[in-house]
Amino acid sequence: MPRRQDDTVTRARHLARRLLRKQMPERWAHTKGVAHRAAQVAVTVPVTDRDVLVASAWLHDIGYTRALRRTGFHRLDGAIYLSRQGWPDRITALVAHHSGARFVPVERGFADQMADFDFEDSPVSDALTYADQTVGPHGRTMTVEYRIAEAISRHGPDSPNARARVDRVPYLLAVADRVQQRLATAAGTTSDADG
Ligand SMILES: [Fe+2]
Repeated sequence: MPRRQDDTVTRARHLARRLLRKQMPERWAHTKGVAHRAAQVAVTVPVTDRDVLVASAWLHDIGYTRALRRTGFHRLDGAIYLSRQGWPDRITALVAHHSGARFVPVERGFADQMADFDFEDSPVSDALTYADQTVGPHGRTMTVEYRIAEAISRHGPDSPNARARVDRVPYLLAVADRVQQRLATAAGTTSDADG
């Protein structure tokens, strides 16, 4: 009998595929890349949190789907949908706040709705943001620095992401630093164990 958490990852993958694969193939390619990357860096989070991380990675961008669009802020739209569908609060909140959402200016009413979702600051939220920020629109792996520059040029200099960059970019770079340090520690632990 499969573990319950495994079911969550499978359900997350199926839901993301149903919402994104045909309607947003580029976003689906990115999502598959982010989920794959999250699994690669899952060693930086406690074993019991790894399925939460990978499930959140599958779901993090479903709010871009037109059918889910309510506020136009994809993190919030995804989280509202997941909450109404009864997904676990933790996964829903990770989706709401991924990749430095709190630095992106939103309409005041939407900010109040964002406050409905707890902000988690942990190795799991770091790993999710790191996975998202090291995979580009077509699923290509890239550095955080390149991804930040690519997103700003793609969305335009007046986009909310670009306007948030003074606070958001240092946050994303600090996240990358923390995850890379945890990866190095995990690699050291593994090689010690091997040796
Ligand atoms: Fe993403």
